[in-house]
Amino acid sequence: MVVNPDRQTWRCWSCSTGGDCFSWVTEFDKVEFRDALETLAKRAGLEMPKFGGGRPQENAVAKADIYDVLTWAENEFHRCLLDSQMAAPAREYLKERGFTDETISKFKLGFAPNDGQWLLARGRGKFPIDQMETARLVKKSDEGTGYYQFFRNRVLFPIRNDKGRCVSFGGRVLPQFAKPGVGKYINGPESDVYSKSNLLFGFDAAREGIRKSQTAVVVEGYTDVLISHQFGVTNVVGVCGTALTEAHVARLKHFAGRIVLMFDGDDAGQKAAEKALANFLAERIDLKVLVLPEGQDPDEYLFSHGAEAYQHQIDNAAEAFDFKLQTEINRHGLESIDARHRVLTSMLELLAQVSKLRGTSKEDVILSRLSGRTLLNEQVVRQRLSEMRAAKPSATGGTLRNGNTPAAAMPQGGSEATPRAMSARGEATPNKSRQHDGSRVDRGLNFSGRKMSQIDQFEYEILGIIFAAPQMLDAIRLEIGDEDFQNEQNRLLLQTCFDLSDHGELATFERIMSAIEDNNLKRLVIWIDEQAREKEIVQKLTENLMTYKEQNLPRYLVQCLQPIQWRREEQLHQRNTGRLAQQPESRAGLNSNAKALLEQQTAFHQKRAAKTTWQ
Ligand code: UTP
Ligand code: MN
Repeated sequence: MVVNPDRQTWRCWSCSTGGDCFSWVTEFDKVEFRDALETLAKRAGLEMPKFGGGRPQENAVAKADIYDVLTWAENEFHRCLLDSQMAAPAREYLKERGFTDETISKFKLGFAPNDGQWLLARGRGKFPIDQMETARLVKKSDEGTGYYQFFRNRVLFPIRNDKGRCVSFGGRVLPQFAKPGVGKYINGPESDVYSKSNLLFGFDAAREGIRKSQTAVVVEGYTDVLISHQFGVTNVVGVCGTALTEAHVARLKHFAGRIVLMFDGDDAGQKAAEKALANFLAERIDLKVLVLPEGQDPDEYLFSHGAEAYQHQIDNAAEAFDFKLQTEINRHGLESIDARHRVLTSMLELLAQVSKLRGTSKEDVILSRLSGRTLLNEQVVRQRLSEMRAAKPSATGGTLRNGNTPAAAMPQGGSEATPRAMSARGEATPNKSRQHDGSRVDRGLNFSGRKMSQIDQFEYEILGIIFAAPQMLDAIRLEIGDEDFQNEQNRLLLQTCFDLSDHGELATFERIMSAIEDNNLKRLVIWIDEQAREKEIVQKLTENLMTYKEQNLPRYLVQCLQPIQWRREEQLHQRNTGRLAQQPESRAGLNSNAKALLEQQTAFHQKRAAKTTWQ
């Protein structure tokens, strides 16, 4: 994605969207145009333009106003915690739990007094009631006679969105007021600015830590997040009171390649781990699961073992699938054949749910590991999985069955439409022979959903090399021309690269994306680029050089170029054979034209005999 501050524009190449500063705010904040206008007007210190007609009634409070009142309330609650006599027990409680003053002020913890009118009284004259109500700070009383504040007599943990704006609170009861039937925690209700399935607690504070460590640690509780940060482990976020969703994972994937799910050792934690596993096994992400020893939660573990041990636990978290496998092995044992089959069955039940995994190399790895651990023959394992899949149509949407081309997969929105997930589905390696269940990916489809020929593959790879290392283009151009590509779309792309180079420009991924208009072609570029990344083309290019036709070229490139060049020669050979057949026979022998053709043919046969490099 490119943002151009001078032109005040932005463009996201992978989803083909873009626009100006207004659409940036509407998209990024997920707000209506008018709210975006308001935000920007405010930021620029401009008067809001007046509109005729007014706003629709049901959406009477602008998001900017909701944020305003929440920020105000956050400060009121925070000041109350720090200064008020009423908050003395809360201060005592936080101290006992080991929260430092620094953490309390950094995360702006607060206290809501046990008085339903406290906030209303402080807001009078500043904020209209409907603004407070839309922000879910106050609630109409059941009798409908008045309003009272939502959180009472609770320590408040402000919940922030990605930009650090307070959108709600989690409120914890003080131990001395805990009663059966009263939730230990209550979370603010969802609102126009707060959606639980999207939001990760502490993300704004953890973003840098996640990016730097390439790891996001997901825990269950508010305190667990805050205490982790307090101990200097800053890549920790929380799912507060909800399960981990696809939206959560999609967000984290932008920042990290690894997600460590840290669940409490209780049953609920165990269930949550299994659910997450089924949901995210097929994601292109390194998913780990960690259950801390002795049933401790992160907060308890940190205070009893310290940050270093905690970090060590995180670094050594089990791969998610292995975690589940180990759980099943602990449950059933491996002693008898029967027990091993029980382990196998529960693992395959899980796999059978995850249709996105079908036919991927990840599935291959999993199945062979499964066979290794259960000591059951891999063919048997595969057979059982096929049977289970046939018996139980999957619940998680058979994306592969519906067509695995990126074009088919992209427009549905949600996390599945990312290029990475696309290539997970489009992934097809014709060289690997796969014996098992014959899904579409197994048969190796190209971008257009047709059977992938080896030549398709080499064309894709050459384009992938160009996108990854555009400085190679000149060398490539000495070897092949765009007419050598048989796939029309590929040919167009190669031509575009050459055109760019003719204008003195590097054919980078971004430049190519901006040079082409056609959306399908753009998707192809993304698809190729993703494939190239997955195959780690850049590393392969640096692996070793070979001298090829007097040039020093990466061996990997040569291996892709040769088949294309060879096909050109074969085609020439066929044409020549046709031409030779049409040469007039004459007693005087062959004419010079035919002689030249024959010489070419002989050379071809010699080359064919010598050709070994790429077979
Ligand atoms: P836990 O019961 O494990 O609490 O709930 P905790 O985080 O260890 O809290 P402390 O240490 O006793 O203060 C884990 C998370 O589940 C949600 C909260 O987000 C909590 O942090 N939860 C728990 C609720 O939403 N409501 C509840 O009543 C309990
Ligand atoms: Mn706890």
